[in-house]
Formats: sequence, C-alpha cells, structure tokens
Amino acid sequence: MAVQKVGVVGCGLMGSGIAQVCAQAGFQTFVREISGELVEKGLKGIEKNLARLVEKGTLTEAGKGEISGRLRGVTALEELKGCDVILEAIIEQLPAKRELFAVLDGLCPAHTIFASNTSSLTITEIAAATKRPQRFVGLHFFNPVPVMKLIEVVRTIATDPAVYEEMVAFGAKLGKTPVRANDGGGFIVNRLLVPYLLDAIRALEEGVGSVVDIDTSMKLGCGYPMGPFTLLDFVGLDTTLYISQIMFDEFKEKRFAAPPLLKRMVLAGWHGKKSGRGFYDYADPANPKPMNL
Ligand code: CAA
Repeated sequence: MAVQKVGVVGCGLMGSGIAQVCAQAGFQTFVREISGELVEKGLKGIEKNLARLVEKGTLTEAGKGEISGRLRGVTALEELKGCDVILEAIIEQLPAKRELFAVLDGLCPAHTIFASNTSSLTITEIAAATKRPQRFVGLHFFNPVPVMKLIEVVRTIATDPAVYEEMVAFGAKLGKTPVRANDGGGFIVNRLLVPYLLDAIRALEEGVGSVVDIDTSMKLGCGYPMGPFTLLDFVGLDTTLYISQIMFDEFKEKRFAAPPLLKRMVLAGWHGKKSGRGFYDYADPANPKPMNL
C-alpha cells in the first residue's frame, strides 16, 4: 500500500511539527484539533516556520504555497477517515489516547495504519484499545520536529512485520533517519536521555556545580548542542517528571526516579521555557538567567 493521505491528531508543538514535515514530504495532510482556534494557532505556527525557510532561501514562495495547499486543518475526527496513516500527538495520557484510537478504529477502513508519538507510554497498551494492534506502531519524533533528524519507529509484539517495514520507509520519506526500537519504556532515546537529565539535577542537588557550569561542561566538554538544564527547560519539567514516573513504574530502578528538586519545581509551576521559569528565568527570552536554586 502506498501512503498518500496522512492524518495528524493534535496540532500543538509536536503535532504541528509533524503535520509540517508530512506536508513538506509531499503528503496530503489533514491535521485535527479540538477547536477552530487551536487549528488556526497550529497552522499559523507552521506558516511562520515555512516563511522563515523562504526568508533563508531554502524554500521558494511557490514551494511554500504548495506545502500549505497540502495541509488542511479540521476539527471533526470523521474528516480523517480517508487517511492511510494516522499519527497521534495529543496529551500524554493513556486514557485520552486509548479513547481516541477506539473512536478512530470505528471510523477508519481496515487498511489504515495507526501510530502514536508517545514518548513514554507503551504502544501495546494504546494499541489494545483497537481491533487492529497488528497495524499499530509508535512513530516518535523529536522537538523541534522540523529540525531533528531522528524518528524512532516502534514495534510491539503484535505489529505486522510488513506494516512495520512500511512505517520505517514512511519515516525515511519524511526526511528523517528511522531507527528500529522495540516497545519498552522510553524506547531508545528516553531510556538513555532521561537518566542523564535526572542525574544532572542530582549533581546540582549535591553541589557538584552550578546550573551554568554543568550546562557549559556538557556543551563544551561533550559537544552537546544544549546543556542538560537548558534541555530540561526546553523539553518541559512537567513532561520530564511525567516521563520519569512512567519509566520508574516500569523498571523500578533508581536512575529513573525523579529527584526532589524536580518535583518541587513542577509543584511551584516552574515548567521550563514555556512557563517563563525553570532552571533559567526567561523574562528576557534572548538572555535567560539561571535561577537561584
Ligand atoms: N522550528 C523550526 N526550526 C527551528 C526551530 C523550531 N522550533 N528552532 C530552531 N530551528 C532552526 C533554526 O531556524 C536554524 O535553522 P538554520 O540552521 O537553517 O538557520 C536551526 O534550527 C538552528 O537553530 P539556531 O541557530 O537558532 O539554534 P541552535 O543552533 O542552538 O539549534 C536546536 C537549535 C536545533 C534546538 C539545538 O539547540 C538542538 O539540537 N538542541 C537539542 C534539542 C534536543 O535534544 N531535542 C530532543 C529533545 S527530547 C524529545 O524531543 C523527545 C522526548 O520524548 C522528550
């Protein structure tokens, strides 16, 4: 089966990025949000990203028009029933994802492949809400989606090998480098990244170094594009706490346990860049100042 039409459910930070790369790769893309305002907001963000590419000279005005022409924002799930693949990027909560896929399962023809962009929930548990677990995979993108080259293609014990290979090829068609991962907590990237980020917080708690010095060390000493605290603020402290709790539940290992400082910061509403405060203060977004922790 050749994928032609793609549905994306959720047009927030990840969903809008996913819809953008699908349309850029030439697919007719339907992106669904729960209200007209949220659809507008997501599509505006995509327009802004494409306009930046035109400014930089990496995209022509005509090319931008073609990409926008392939994108359609919708609010009704029924509008996705003609899609060959549906990618879900809604809130990271199991009941919400299961409910969504149960509805889509009733709407879509048998050939439609379902994919979740979850970063921490088990694909098996989401797929079990449908009658097509053999046509269900994880397609895990990274933030910012248009820039990050990786896609984790996740298979469960129930995924049909032919469907899986089709999704590996689909990931490559999106301009990403696919890696193959089995359905285990955090897949490949978060299995390694989450303990590293939590360890950086523990190092701070133990007074090993300051926020800025730990960030500078990993940037200049290891060549990472962002230090761990900048990355934590970028990913979101609430998101990191949530992922770590799911992974701790799965593995019962200390390295996945959330440090007290992370819990306190989330309780205080310091969720990172998006809330204006995290390990840094973003009152002046171009010049973040480390918080006094
Ligand atoms: N959308 C689109 N393009 C963007 C962008 C965005 N949100 N942010 C940056 N860019 C583009 C810029 O336009 C620029 O493009 P050109 O090189 O063509 O000019 C390019 O990316 C580099 O941007 P900057 O020069 O502004 O800044 P930078 O060199 O520091 O790069 C970065 C920014 C790509 C975000 C880089 O800092 C980086 O790679 N950081 C690490 C990000 C990371 O680790 N992401 C994974 C998080 S984990 C996750 O997502 C999974 C999970 O489950 C939690």
